[in-house]
Amino acid sequence: FVPQRLAGRKVLMTAGPTFEPIDAVRGITNISSGKMGYALARACRDAGAEVTLVSGPTGLPCPEDVQRLDVGTAQEMYDAVLRHAGSADIFIGVAAVADYRVRNRAEHKLKKGDSVPVIELEENPDILATVASLPAAPFCVGFAAESRNLLEYADAKRRRKKVPLLVANLVQKAMGRDTNEVLLLDDAGSHALPEMDKQALAARLVEELAARLPPA
Ligand code: C5P
Repeated sequence: FVPQRLAGRKVLMTAGPTFEPIDAVRGITNISSGKMGYALARACRDAGAEVTLVSGPTGLPCPEDVQRLDVGTAQEMYDAVLRHAGSADIFIGVAAVADYRVRNRAEHKLKKGDSVPVIELEENPDILATVASLPAAPFCVGFAAESRNLLEYADAKRRRKKVPLLVANLVQKAMGRDTNEVLLLDDAGSHALPEMDKQALAARLVEELAARLPPA
């Protein structure tokens, strides 16, 4: 028996990495597997929510009864999220979104030549910060993966992006793995959860989120 803590709620989420093309065959991505986001999508569905999952390239099967929108770049993820944010009650940004995209993207495959190509980068929009600042913003949950200074960096991120709940994890403990160990950060401070399977953690995060949700 799973309590329907999110019955009648619309959850919009992001998961996985993004892919920022360099040319027709190459790109910049990261080691996010999408496992945490997909586990959370299943947990939200099991709690009775209507789930829309905007997913970067992961190779994972779409969870049953979840509406998945496939995207490649951070800009595509941003556009898909913003199209759906107005009707969402909850937004959960789990994706490892690329901070930068290639400014001088080549249409065709770059050929080996006399000079080494120079890749120029430009900043991508911050999806979570944008959604959190909408006039009728859904309840926003962020994730932060850091390789060091977890509490300090994650707390600064939560304040900068103005999200009521942020889930912080060390890259070494989280990315690409089946288990995760996180810190929950909110206005009241930080709270450590023990290491657990990502699906068990997702169920726990749904409880934590539901407990903080304003009444419908
Ligand atoms: O990449 P960063 O560590 O800043 O990510 C923190 C949170 O912000 C995550 O929830 C991530 O999904 C979100 N994010 C985003 N758009 C970006 C960068 C990050 O939504 N461009």
